[in-house]
Amino acid sequence: MAILRKRADVQVTVWPEDRTCERDWLLSNIAGADGVIVLFTDKINAELLERAGPQLKVVSTMSVGYDHVSLGELYKRKVRLGYTPDVLTDAVADLSVMLALMAGRNGGAGITLVKDGQWPEFAPFFMCGPQLSSSSLAPTRTAGFLGFGRIAQATLKRVAAFGVTHCIYSGNPSSPPDTALEVHLAEDHRLQSVRRVDLDVLARESDVLFVLAPGGEKTYHVIDEKFLRKMRRHSVLVNTARGTLVDSDALAMALREEWIWGAGLDVVEGEPNVGAGHPLVKEPRCVIVPHIGSATWETRVDMATLAAKNLLAGLSAESMPAELDL
Ligand code: DGY
Repeated sequence: MAILRKRADVQVTVWPEDRTCERDWLLSNIAGADGVIVLFTDKINAELLERAGPQLKVVSTMSVGYDHVSLGELYKRKVRLGYTPDVLTDAVADLSVMLALMAGRNGGAGITLVKDGQWPEFAPFFMCGPQLSSSSLAPTRTAGFLGFGRIAQATLKRVAAFGVTHCIYSGNPSSPPDTALEVHLAEDHRLQSVRRVDLDVLARESDVLFVLAPGGEKTYHVIDEKFLRKMRRHSVLVNTARGTLVDSDALAMALREEWIWGAGLDVVEGEPNVGAGHPLVKEPRCVIVPHIGSATWETRVDMATLAAKNLLAGLSAESMPAELDL
């Protein structure tokens, strides 16, 4: 807000509450706007763009994902799109590792026991789960990545430090693995290989699978029953991308019937309408947090700052700090 308010020539209308903006409010307040800052929860489609009117120059989304935006509709109207890559990479990579550990090590079930006042007696194999790090019993550990962009590569750096020995990925890296990553891999004692594979190998060989590809039609339910049936029994699936990539019913069945060990989810298809009766919520080895991947003070301030700068640059027809090429 401080950045926007410094511009005397810009009149700002703000949704006044700290929660998702109501559609009707957005539809009526966007009329006549030259630019708008939105969240990934706001659908940017023909309806909204029509309401805004032909003077609209820029949509600035405070998110790295843009599956909520109809790119074709923007392109048709010559409306530019700003987004917030890079600034949330570390926060989401951190949370991905947290969920991998929580799901593998019974974090969810353990917390529930303690909160229910049922601290269990210690027993040698009680609450054991698969270890993320390689060990004498499991000398190799493979981290799989569906999508190998910035966040996936940052997650790999973290799990390499945990002693993962192999990395496999599918999908195009948004940029080739960067020099920093190569240096890091060369210095790491246990990570031995980084290999691009097809989906079949990704499913069969991942001990922990990080879903980090963009949402949208092309990746809809790419993790389906067929994929899950191929996974290892001790494997852990982590989704910090978009809920639509994973078929929730198939995942719930995979957990219930123990085709895989556990799941750590920051996103679920249909969120925020994911109640206590949801099949995934009911699974004890499914750890779910409510889309908080980028939720650190530092990252959200960076995202808001970038979104404001993108907006102002778009209004002034200048180059944006982070513009998506339509
Ligand atoms: C994004 O930026 O796309 C996240 O899902 C929300 O931070």
